[in-house]
Amino acid sequence: MRDNGTSRDGSSIGGNGTGPPPAPAASVASNGHPSTEDALLEVRDLRTYFMLHEGTVRAVDGVSFTVRRRRTLGVVGESGCGKSVTAQSILRIVPRPGRIVSGEIVYHRRRSGQSDEELIDLTRLDPESRAIRSIRGNEIAYIFQEPMASLSPVHTIGHQIAETIMLHQRVRREEARARAIEVLDHVGMVKPSETIDRYAHQLSGGQRQRAVIALALSCHPSLLIADEPTTALDVTTEAQILELMRSLQQDYGMAIQFITHNLGVIAEMADDVVVMYLGRQVEQASVDDLFFNPRHPYTRALLRSVPKLGRKSRQRLEAIQGMVPDPFSVPKGCPFHPRCPLYKPGICDDPRWIEVGPNHWVRCNRATESI
Ligand SMILES: Nc1ncnc2c1ncn2[C@@H]1O[C@H](COP(=O)(O)OP(=O)(O)OP(=O)(O)O)[C@@H](O)[C@H]1O
Ligand code: SF4
Ligand SMILES: [Mg+2]
Repeated sequence: MRDNGTSRDGSSIGGNGTGPPPAPAASVASNGHPSTEDALLEVRDLRTYFMLHEGTVRAVDGVSFTVRRRRTLGVVGESGCGKSVTAQSILRIVPRPGRIVSGEIVYHRRRSGQSDEELIDLTRLDPESRAIRSIRGNEIAYIFQEPMASLSPVHTIGHQIAETIMLHQRVRREEARARAIEVLDHVGMVKPSETIDRYAHQLSGGQRQRAVIALALSCHPSLLIADEPTTALDVTTEAQILELMRSLQQDYGMAIQFITHNLGVIAEMADDVVVMYLGRQVEQASVDDLFFNPRHPYTRALLRSVPKLGRKSRQRLEAIQGMVPDPFSVPKGCPFHPRCPLYKPGICDDPRWIEVGPNHWVRCNRATESI
């Protein structure tokens, strides 16, 4: 394994022995998060802020997690908690005036057929550099929150998929078109050889989302970041798309970072889960631990607000007490304390990141009490 971080101007800093020492196969990142041998992407203490006239929005404020190869990491939390900005940071597409102010995003690149890894800190790459463009949309693909943001209104579906393939791989247009039809077929598009010449506005919501997934998968990425990929769909189409994503993950052997505000979707899709609140992660666990042994009061409140099968229709869902605070005035101490039924002055002032079980971490000073 070798480290090949690249400086902010795109030049190599690791390949000739002058860079930081290579990370061991199983190490502990700066904030106590384990780094596993099957790690594909390690986000370490990431901070991404928006410097606005009104003040600084700490959209992502010290987030760390690992996406494992061929697994699905669910990222969940209420609107505005920093899910999309975390994804934008990984892809290096944070809109101005936002910027990554500190932290590392280590991508473990493995060339096909090789077991050797090249470690690339994506935060050090210039967002316009060839280095990040060779990764973005190719090795790390993404599905935006709004499908029309991924699709051009003035080009056919086939043109867009073929262009993406030709951008990253040395193939002629005819071969790129043939591969586009193949991938459309793979995502279950009806009559792919006809649909390829359609425009996005000529497709139904479900077909459009299949086209977006085909576009994302056209270069066989090792990581797919899907930001609320089914929110705009009806329940039946949502179920079909989730099933499709699970089977494509098997076929392509890729990892998925699945962003959603919907814990029901997390239960179906994720192996591991990160729960975010106001730019921080408050709990991280396997999907089973999160659902059967949630430790953070915010996670428990989120779970109580999910509809359950068998619940009597007149039984009301519990809403989470209070509102998400304004991002310009994040409460001091534990940011969840104004909404937390367990808040105790003096105990909750500086919540620590505590391991409450194997690979189960919680940011709450009362997480180990039996309450
Ligand atoms: N372009 C921007 N300019 C200024 N602030 C921004 C910008 N984009 C995001 N933010 C702020 O960063 C914070 C995190 O936003 P983000 O979009 O990541 O939330 P989210 O968890 O994806 O929410 P949602 O579930 O609504 O998509 C919010 O306070 C948001 O207002
Ligand atoms: S630290 Fe205190 S206020 Fe914060 S979540 Fe835990 S119990 Fe609630
Ligand atoms: Mg979002």
